[in-house]
Amino acid sequence: MPNKMIELQAVTKRYGNLVALHNVTMSVPRGAILTLLGPSGCGKTTFLRLLAGIQTPDEGAIWLNGRLVADGGGKTFVPPEDRRVGLVFQDYALFPHLDVGHNVAFGLKGTRQEKAARVADMLALVGLTGYERRMPYLLSGGQQQRVALARALAPLPDIMLLDEPFSNLDTALRTQVRSEVRDILRQANMTTVFVTHDQQEALSLSDRVAVIFDGVVQQLGTPQELYNTPCSAEVAAFMGEANFVPAEASGTKALSPLGEVNLFQPMRGPVRLMIRPERLHIEPPHAEGTLALVQWREYYGRSQRIGVKLEDGTPLVVSTDTQVAYERGDRVRLTVFAPLLAFAS
Ligand SMILES: Nc1ncnc2c1ncn2[C@@H]1O[C@H](COP(=O)(O)OP(=O)(O)O)[C@@H](O)[C@H]1O
Ligand SMILES: [Mg+2]
Repeated sequence: MPNKMIELQAVTKRYGNLVALHNVTMSVPRGAILTLLGPSGCGKTTFLRLLAGIQTPDEGAIWLNGRLVADGGGKTFVPPEDRRVGLVFQDYALFPHLDVGHNVAFGLKGTRQEKAARVADMLALVGLTGYERRMPYLLSGGQQQRVALARALAPLPDIMLLDEPFSNLDTALRTQVRSEVRDILRQANMTTVFVTHDQQEALSLSDRVAVIFDGVVQQLGTPQELYNTPCSAEVAAFMGEANFVPAEASGTKALSPLGEVNLFQPMRGPVRLMIRPERLHIEPPHAEGTLALVQWREYYGRSQRIGVKLEDGTPLVVSTDTQVAYERGDRVRLTVFAPLLAFAS
């Protein structure tokens, strides 16, 4: 069995003059969860449609489970129903007139007993044992989404594709349902491509994240790589809040409004330091560090965001999990956890 369950080689997809995906090359190992992350319109759904066989690439080639399923020349095209791919979309799309059991059994082959056994297995997997006769409208949003997942898993696909599956759930439920779904996919050892525009979701759910802007894969890496060592200032800002501070680099050191700091990589000349708010340490005025004035404070309970200004006017956002009640006008000292990432400016 091939280890690469999904492979794309130089795939380009156009809609008329619009390049929806440009020259995408990547692979997904068996059992891994890959997240496609990017703003609305960047090409995420197009990516899934190409894998599902709902659309064909203009250039390049796609392999699923070691089998060529589509190529740009159009010589090879395996239709969706023969790709062993399961799909879950944003709007669950359960059949409203069918009960849960019949929704999950839809599209299954075999005898009635075999289907009933598979339905029971799938409902057990998603934590809905005994819900066979329930109608979809009597289920919560989270339960409906788990039925949709059970239905997609029932034919035992090789690959699962999920397109923004949690965006119709409210915030509290979303966090819960997404960890449930992740556990189910893990338990099934399912190779998964998951689409979201929410970076928290991408970071918390995935083995690998591909950040896509305007049809181009900017970076593919682990959640930690994307958060800590983004390839550009744009990716850095997209992955989470970041301060960008001008500095002058000389080797692995840079001179900045926060004093001399260490860099991840040697650089030379004018740069922008990328500083996540939690990498700044806020201390009382008699401590060591760079003097700053508190401008504002947002309190979240387990953490707080504090806006400060350095003496030279540089504004910074600090995140801290202390309970100190800072007030506008307070004098504080800042130190920074180095080494820092820098981008040429
Ligand atoms: N069938 C289509 N015909 C023409 N343009 C399309 C079609 N589907 C998507 N697009 C365009 O392609 C780009 C990528 O769309 P899509 O893959 O749906 O992005 P995402 O899922 O990231 O929001 C967008 O600019 C969108 O308007
Ligand atoms: Mg989409």
